[in-house]
Amino acid sequence: MTSPYTHLIDLNDHPVSWWNGLLSLGQEIRSNPALYANSCRGKIMGTLFYEPSTRTQMSFQTAMLRLGGTIIGFDNPNASSVAKGENLKDTTKVVSGYSDVLVIRHPTVGAAKAAALTADCPVINAGDGGHLHPTQTLTDLLTLKCEKGRLSDLTIGLCGDLLNGRTVHSLCKAMSCYPNNHFIMISTKELAMPSYIKDIIRAHGGTFEETHSLEEAIPKLDMLYMTRIQRERFPSPEAYEAQKDTYILTPKKMKLGKPDMIVLHPLPRVDEIAVSVDDDPRALYFKQARYGMYVRMALILTMLQSTKQTELLTGQVHPGIKCPNPGCITNAETYLPKSFTGTGTTLTCEYCDERLLLEH
Ligand code: NCD
Repeated sequence: MTSPYTHLIDLNDHPVSWWNGLLSLGQEIRSNPALYANSCRGKIMGTLFYEPSTRTQMSFQTAMLRLGGTIIGFDNPNASSVAKGENLKDTTKVVSGYSDVLVIRHPTVGAAKAAALTADCPVINAGDGGHLHPTQTLTDLLTLKCEKGRLSDLTIGLCGDLLNGRTVHSLCKAMSCYPNNHFIMISTKELAMPSYIKDIIRAHGGTFEETHSLEEAIPKLDMLYMTRIQRERFPSPEAYEAQKDTYILTPKKMKLGKPDMIVLHPLPRVDEIAVSVDDDPRALYFKQARYGMYVRMALILTMLQSTKQTELLTGQVHPGIKCPNPGCITNAETYLPKSFTGTGTTLTCEYCDERLLLEH
């Protein structure tokens, strides 16, 4: 299914040249913000935040306000008609009719794509469950570009909840499209990177290794990306308790890192980085959050000007077959076409990337 709008559901739906254009525009806006102060005058951005957010929501809001536009939306679905049982399709249809661009964050995997199927304006995925977070990745790429001066030839450490952390999924998918990046995935075996992300890295010719030891990995890294253990995605409080506090970055561990290693974190931090690390000049997570505002300004501007269509569903509906992932949006919003890519015995859900083996 093709949509007449340019959506950002997954960065990898767009060519790398498009991301690079956003990064260059983000740098340009950062250098000359006054030049862009009226670029979106008269335009309205709708924000549908079905999940808590500080940075993503506020950086989108300030981005639009700094471009001269205005904002509508909710950050507490319980104060909207969602509390009366309105489905995603209807909320999206109505609010996209009021807006020029719609930003959506939702706890259910695939929700942004589902919203784009019915929206009457461009949709930006601001995080869909534990799946993807493309605008955090744009933030990370702009930070790397400005602070390391390159997006290739990097050894990238990813530490923490690699299973449920949507930021690391989008980051790996994006960074594997630039040459000679090597990933060191640092996690417990319970919170290891999903295999579909590792397959994407391999398919792009990227390399990776997996380890449990932060101390062993740190000396090799150009960038350490710390993440929060995603408590809200765990099946039980006990499962979370068993994983929390496994990795804590301390000044002692920072001593093992190269002098030009940088430390990023999408934030919020819980306790995976000791507060005393903040004074280390290599700790760039607060600066990173500010880069996010500039790259979102570039994104909003670009999407409002774009006339490019987006391919949303390219696969097929197979009668009687539904996604085996209970957390997939197609199992919550059952009117959605259950579309899968792939042929033969392996199908992949187009909303959540879950694989399904067909028996013959
Ligand atoms: C992240 C998110 O929401 O996925 N935060 C963010 O957008 N900056 C990371 C997290 O919640 O741990």
